[in-house]
Amino acid sequence: MEKKWYKEMSVYQIWPRSFCDGNGDGIGDLEGIISKLDYIKELGVDAIWFSPLFPSPNADYGYDIADYRDISKDYGTLDQFKVLLDEAHKRDLKIIMDLVINHTSDEHSWFKESKKGEDNPYHDYYIWRKGRKPGKEPNNWLSTFQGKAWEYCKEIDKYYLHVFAKGQPDLNMDNPKVRKEIKDIIRFWLDMGVDGFREDVITFISKEPGLPNGFPLPTATGIEHYKNGPNLKKYLQEFKEVYNDYDCFTVGEAPMMTPKSALEFIREGEGQLLNMMFHFEHMNCDNIITNWIVTPFRPGKLKKVYNNWQTKLHGIAWNANYIENHDQPRIISRYGSEKYREQSGKMLATMYICQSGTPFIYQGQEIGMTNPRIDSIDRYKDVSSINTYALFRKLGFSDKLTMKFCMYASRDNARTPMQWNDGKNAGFTTAEEPWFEINPNYIFINAEAEQKNENSILNYYKKLLRFRKENDIVKYGDFEMLKTEKNIFAYIRKYEGQKMLVLCSFSEKEMAFRAPSDFCISEAELVLSNYESNPVIHNGFFTRPYETRVYLIK
Ligand code: NOJ
Repeated sequence: MEKKWYKEMSVYQIWPRSFCDGNGDGIGDLEGIISKLDYIKELGVDAIWFSPLFPSPNADYGYDIADYRDISKDYGTLDQFKVLLDEAHKRDLKIIMDLVINHTSDEHSWFKESKKGEDNPYHDYYIWRKGRKPGKEPNNWLSTFQGKAWEYCKEIDKYYLHVFAKGQPDLNMDNPKVRKEIKDIIRFWLDMGVDGFREDVITFISKEPGLPNGFPLPTATGIEHYKNGPNLKKYLQEFKEVYNDYDCFTVGEAPMMTPKSALEFIREGEGQLLNMMFHFEHMNCDNIITNWIVTPFRPGKLKKVYNNWQTKLHGIAWNANYIENHDQPRIISRYGSEKYREQSGKMLATMYICQSGTPFIYQGQEIGMTNPRIDSIDRYKDVSSINTYALFRKLGFSDKLTMKFCMYASRDNARTPMQWNDGKNAGFTTAEEPWFEINPNYIFINAEAEQKNENSILNYYKKLLRFRKENDIVKYGDFEMLKTEKNIFAYIRKYEGQKMLVLCSFSEKEMAFRAPSDFCISEAELVLSNYESNPVIHNGFFTRPYETRVYLIK
């Protein structure tokens, strides 16, 4: 497997609104980010991915872009961004931008022009259709976030398509002028010096011609007609021709991907279209159908998914590994245990960072932040949470159950401000009121406390990332999952004569674990663990709650 800088790196994701407020207006910003660059560097990552920093009316907090070539006033200015880029590069931190091109904001100038009528040169930048008959949408598609996928525009008697919120009209990527605009935007940022892109729902950009009706679902009806559309590869190939002029990297967000379908895009060699993909399979182990229908966490499924991705991509493609981001609730509250926060936080980190692939770490994950338990819908900010709540109520779910699902599954769980210290507003802002409520547990879960405590989750992440950096086996070794009890996930990595055993317990119960006979624990070094060591007998031991251990034989 060819070594590449983007395979060696690990990435920190910033959701700017909630990271750090430098100017005291209650909203995170570039000044705040610049003040925390040393913190990020000390964590041991090599790159920062910014969720959108661009001007946006915030129908979907930045994922509705009103101008692709500027910085939102909430966050600062383009000049300030250039300073940030420079400061990051000085520290050897790469910068990855969010490329959101399936849709724009309805306040983007292209859309404002587009809705002026068919004669306007921008009309075809978006997907406009006549109704099937008066008052009837062009097809039965439903959006992911907000009811029907069509919005009527009285002035021109046509509907526009939005597969997400109303304020996020889908671009018509079949129009070569739109693709030209996108290529120019990519160049604009790469010429400025950014190092790559995370590409938002990139696999949705090509829609099936004729926009046929979809299989009826309570939400996202029609998705089968755009989740991997007929021209997707052609368009990605065009964008790749731009990327080829730079030493940059791409990770595509790709809902509903399997290793087999992903390989069509990320298999290394001539036809490779993206460097890696974010899939979702491992994020569906505590829900069914949609992430709002919550079930008990199933470690067996998680193991199967990881085994599949690790083995099927080995040697031919590269994984993008994550367990949290701005769309996912906090992982300790899902696959770990708040009661065993420290142990399970470290175990979950080990579980995915010791696999092959580029690890992504979401702000707050490294200090073990947990879900805030916001128990009234009026206090939520996220368009998808508010509308999914209403949908579930409409479908007949009780208020109590709907609220329970919301508290567990809402994206807002990941969007409360970063907890820096135990002072006012957790050190996030000096304003009276932060833009969104802070998890009251900041009193004891905060970056400062984590820095001071030698055994903290934060210090464990630092050790783990250093270990990955220094050992090629973690990056490039092959992967073999061991047969164990269902609540234990254990795997062996092998590379150039070295062997590594990773053990993770997903239970607070004590369980017996025995290493395979060809991995002799007494010959190995215990390189990482979340408990004091205890005796190994007959090449095995009893696990403690959420225990993790990494043994290395050099
Ligand atoms: C995926 C992003 O991660 C999410 O936050 C956003 O709402 C949708 N794409 C639409 O852009």
